[in-house]
Amino acid sequence: MDLQRCYYERFQSPPKLLAQAPGRVNLLGEHVDYNQGVVLPAAIDRRVSLAVSPRSDGIIQLYAQDLEQEVVFNLEGLDSKNTLDGSPLPGWAHYPAGVAWALQRRGLPLSGLQAVFTSDIPIGAGLSSSAAVEVAFAAAWQALGGWQLDRLELAQICQQAENHYVGVSCGLMDQFASACGVEGHALRFDTRDLSWMPLPLLPGSVIVIADSSIRRSLAHSAYNERRAACEQAVMLLRRVLPDIRSLRDLTPPVFAAYKDLLPDDVRPRAEHVVREIARVESAVSALRRADGRAFGALMYAGHASLRDLFEVSLPELDALVEIARGLPGCIGARLTGAGFGGCTVNLVEEQHVDGFVSALSEAYREKCHRNARVFACRASQGAGSTWL
Ligand code: GLA
Repeated sequence: MDLQRCYYERFQSPPKLLAQAPGRVNLLGEHVDYNQGVVLPAAIDRRVSLAVSPRSDGIIQLYAQDLEQEVVFNLEGLDSKNTLDGSPLPGWAHYPAGVAWALQRRGLPLSGLQAVFTSDIPIGAGLSSSAAVEVAFAAAWQALGGWQLDRLELAQICQQAENHYVGVSCGLMDQFASACGVEGHALRFDTRDLSWMPLPLLPGSVIVIADSSIRRSLAHSAYNERRAACEQAVMLLRRVLPDIRSLRDLTPPVFAAYKDLLPDDVRPRAEHVVREIARVESAVSALRRADGRAFGALMYAGHASLRDLFEVSLPELDALVEIARGLPGCIGARLTGAGFGGCTVNLVEEQHVDGFVSALSEAYREKCHRNARVFACRASQGAGSTWL
């Protein structure tokens, strides 16, 4: 059912505001955003959409249309993570509640609201469905509150919600891409100084996403573990390189000179990060000179590194990349997002997209006995809201 109609049926009045925020795909620079590296994501044309009206009683009443679940909680007492009747908030409600909590901590005026929301971003598939929920609600509260924050600041507030309320130590990439996306462009985002710029995608290329259909059930703990390994590497290397603040400060040759100081379970993790950061810079130059071959080679190398050094791939994701690599028109392919399941991102020459989509789905079914959802998407504009 149409979102506005669903809202009307639930609340017997039309909504006052529509807000939306897109998911994202990352072209290169994986697991570097919490190491002060540079990333290269794009917002995609899959999004969370929200129909909403303010309430003056400080109550948040949310209906998740896709899950057919309603939750009601109070802006006072968000710390308890409970609904109005004292039961624990369901997992999905932690994202909007976390955003309200982070906005409150920031001292921004916040109103109660009633809302219906829906999403066409596959959940838990590495396309930032949760960041999109956070950013869509932040955009709604911004419009309702009449205050105006820089998009990047809005993204940072959503990241705080995820880090301190939801409990995932994610970097800033996902919320950034969802808030700041630019149509037809990838975004070069430096997570150290927070500068960013849009870069046109390779001319004649299309982003194709292949969803392995495997969900990342272990992702949260494994993600936090990977992050801890990177922090440990910095701590150990500081004994000999006291000036480094993060793995961003190491070039591949400097890392090679000191890597033997790291224990076996930490060294490959750090090596991935150091080399991946260098790969993103090369990829940005390749994009600027529209060199698809060089860009694609960096994507394949990035995937191999996530598989062998950072160990966040799965045989199914490796299969998707290997199959894609052999198909006509494939410029590059790799897993995208945190890994442990989810999607691969492929850059495909425009005239080969249809054949690529069907050949990849078919070969994956044959090899892995699973159905992949393979779809082309467009790089899109970031979050926004409209008064009705
Ligand atoms: C998740 C996190 C991001 C980033 C990626 C890996 O999507 O939310 O911050 O670390 O994994 O690159």
